[in-house]
Amino acid sequence: MKDFLEISTVGSEGLEAILEYAGADLPAVLAGKGVALVFEKPSLRTRSSSEMAAVALGAHPVYITDAEVGIDKRESAEDIAKVLAGYHSAIAARVFDHRVLERMANALRVQGEDVPVINLLSDRSHPCQAVADLITVKQQFGSVRGVEIAYVGDSNNVALSLAEAAALAGASVKIASPEGYGFDVATRQALAGLGDVSFGTDPVEAVRGARVVYTDTWTSMGQEEEAVERRAAFGSGFQVDSALMAKAAKDAIFMHCLPAHRGEEVTSEVMDSPVSVIYRQAANRMPAFKAVLFWAVTG
Ligand code: CP
Ligand code: NVA
Repeated sequence: MKDFLEISTVGSEGLEAILEYAGADLPAVLAGKGVALVFEKPSLRTRSSSEMAAVALGAHPVYITDAEVGIDKRESAEDIAKVLAGYHSAIAARVFDHRVLERMANALRVQGEDVPVINLLSDRSHPCQAVADLITVKQQFGSVRGVEIAYVGDSNNVALSLAEAAALAGASVKIASPEGYGFDVATRQALAGLGDVSFGTDPVEAVRGARVVYTDTWTSMGQEEEAVERRAAFGSGFQVDSALMAKAAKDAIFMHCLPAHRGEEVTSEVMDSPVSVIYRQAANRMPAFKAVLFWAVTG
């Protein structure tokens, strides 16, 4: 049994195993078992892919919203995890505060429960998305190693997990964020320690020659009050449009974790162009979660 909270703690060996599982015909190791899927925030892709992946491994997934459980309001995160462990073989959760996931995992470890906690997106990271991203890059280019990836936009949860996963898999990552929206120094140092990750504020510089151009929303869930300010900060040059894509390599693809805000971080022209792989990337969330769940429960 292993928790899946961050790509960095999964490490390169774990990531390699997960990517291998994603391409394999996995046995129904969770036949007759439960998988708890707890959501504090909305979801289209993560909910559907995790639910269907759990079914594919033989499990019965139970979708639970925060309206029912009230994390740290109706009951503590620790108590919720310990109760869910009585019914389920894995607990996957999408939370506002990443520490909630750590507290859940810690409570289970202290109690000696053999039930992993899986991160379905927190304010800090989105590791399940990163696994699907690597699957998509590998499908496109045959390998992740050596592929130049440009991430243009907010240095957010998606960017962190993407950079960690891509660096561990041997890709090079250039991140361009506006001043004030980049990673802090400690995070930059940690990322640079994992592999070839560099940071800047110039989208054109990041994209030049890249084979993957990736972006995400300027305003993540939980940051809605900053939307106007963020639109102003990112609006000058951080939109991925055809002119920016033209600076990338000839065979470059466009990626986005979705949901996208057409006309903000990306134009419809790019999203709907032949170089956009966004729907395949979204579909890859299913084999990605199946592999993550298999890895987590089989240890
Ligand atoms: N990419 C992603 O996690 O989408 P959802 O928020 O719809 O799950
Ligand atoms: N960065 C976005 C990703 C959504 C899948 C958010 O956290 O809202």
